[in-house]
Amino acid sequence: MNYLFGDDFIARPRRELAPGAVHVPNWLTLEQQQWIVARFKEWANGPVPIRSARVGGHEMSVKTVCLGWHWHPYQYTRNAVDVNGNRVLDFPDWMVRLGRKAIVEASGDPNAGDDYTPDTALLNYYDATARMGMHQDKDELSNAPVVSLSIGDTSTFRFGNTTNRSKPYEDITLASGDLFVFGGASRLAYHGITRIHPGTAPADCGLNAGRINITMRVTGLNDQ
Ligand code: SIN
Ligand code: MN
Repeated sequence: MNYLFGDDFIARPRRELAPGAVHVPNWLTLEQQQWIVARFKEWANGPVPIRSARVGGHEMSVKTVCLGWHWHPYQYTRNAVDVNGNRVLDFPDWMVRLGRKAIVEASGDPNAGDDYTPDTALLNYYDATARMGMHQDKDELSNAPVVSLSIGDTSTFRFGNTTNRSKPYEDITLASGDLFVFGGASRLAYHGITRIHPGTAPADCGLNAGRINITMRVTGLNDQ
């Protein structure tokens, strides 16, 4: 019973941090986490291998592999023009379904996911020292919500305001299996990862070390 209704159950309630920004702890089962980690390991090998994007001449500490559309600073393309030129893998149907379920969960509205069709996902791998500075997700033409899933080591996630990268912001813990959705008035909120907490991944999540974060988005782009 401690596993089901232990301290964690009380200490990490589901919470709306700001309008449209909802944190749902422990949303993915361990089996779902393991399965996603196994897919991630496949995707990381190609056709576009996982890599650190270069921003302003510097490599990001996070490594990224994309589905659907390839993100590189600061645009989306079908082909990984900054890696090996290969086309990225298609966005999987099961991930569309997962994204819709996440929107329903976060909103509490059983129909809210009906029109949500994410067409890109960025899968970020953080080792123990990786960070992500405060930024907005604003390379999408659509203002549909961003669905974020975390697996592996716990991180400190900084969720800020929509006008600048400094205060007011709030630091929360994103642990393995957590869902975070930011949409509506929070869609363009600044956010980042200030810390990874090594050795905190649950034994059965499929990842021995580090953290995977998946963000699904709707690009609003079409092929021409
Ligand atoms: C991101 O902002 O793209 C990733 C956020 C996270 O790792 O939780
Ligand atoms: Mn982001």
